[in-house]
Amino acid sequence: MRVVIQENYNNMCKWAAAYIAGKINAHSGDRPFVLGLPTGSSPIGVYRELIDMNRAGKVSFSNVVTVNMDEYLGLPHEHDQSYWYFMHDTFFDHLVDMKPENINILNGMTDDPEGECRRYEEKIASYGGIDLFMGGIGVDGHLAFNEPFTSLNSRTGVRDLTTDTRIVNSRFFGNDPEKVPAQALSVGIGTVMDSKEVLVLINGHNKARALAAVVEGNVSHRWTCSALQMHNAAIIACDEAACGEITVDTYKYFLDIERNERL
Ligand code: GLP
Repeated sequence: MRVVIQENYNNMCKWAAAYIAGKINAHSGDRPFVLGLPTGSSPIGVYRELIDMNRAGKVSFSNVVTVNMDEYLGLPHEHDQSYWYFMHDTFFDHLVDMKPENINILNGMTDDPEGECRRYEEKIASYGGIDLFMGGIGVDGHLAFNEPFTSLNSRTGVRDLTTDTRIVNSRFFGNDPEKVPAQALSVGIGTVMDSKEVLVLINGHNKARALAAVVEGNVSHRWTCSALQMHNAAIIACDEAACGEITVDTYKYFLDIERNERL
């Protein structure tokens, strides 16, 4: 696992965006580049950077297929807290050459959730898998909506949200946890682990425990993101604020081996 520590949130986002754009630009062949994407506040700065690069002609999305991680069950596209709305409003609508038919987001209004999740996995397989999955994590270490104790082999499916997650996400629902949908559709940990590369953003003091669990803890379904320790090409991009719970030795180790990568 690589852990790329940047001084602050902005630098973390610049690093991650440059990394993603580099991968897209280096991609060749008939197959599109398949990019997994998250929602949440963590990736907003990365999306802003990628939009700027796209509009400046530094990266093209014309041969990119996107696969989003998750979606609330029961929220229509036009609901301003649906992940469909978030992704279009924050990212897709600002790109000059993203093809709408290349955007994949789980349909939270489906009347056949299990079938929708099965079709999603089939769609991913039809592209030949995911090249790079960018993710964020919750304060309880959830990756996508794979809450604590979700199987580390899980595939795309219906997830019950924990009380903790509904409380944390209630900041977008008038601070009322009851207004946060109780269920979501989400790619599984196994789905993310099948990606060729995974890049997870972890920033802010409130993610310090989670970062320590991912980097220094045991692989455990208690912190589902800790499965990344078993991935061959996983990168954590983080800011210093998120490093408060890792040991000084760990912090120095990763700064040392990543020295040449700092912006
Ligand atoms: C939600 C999403 C996750 C996201 C997490 C963290 O629960 N389902 O995919 O990673 O929020 O969000 P934030 O980046 O706002 O902390």
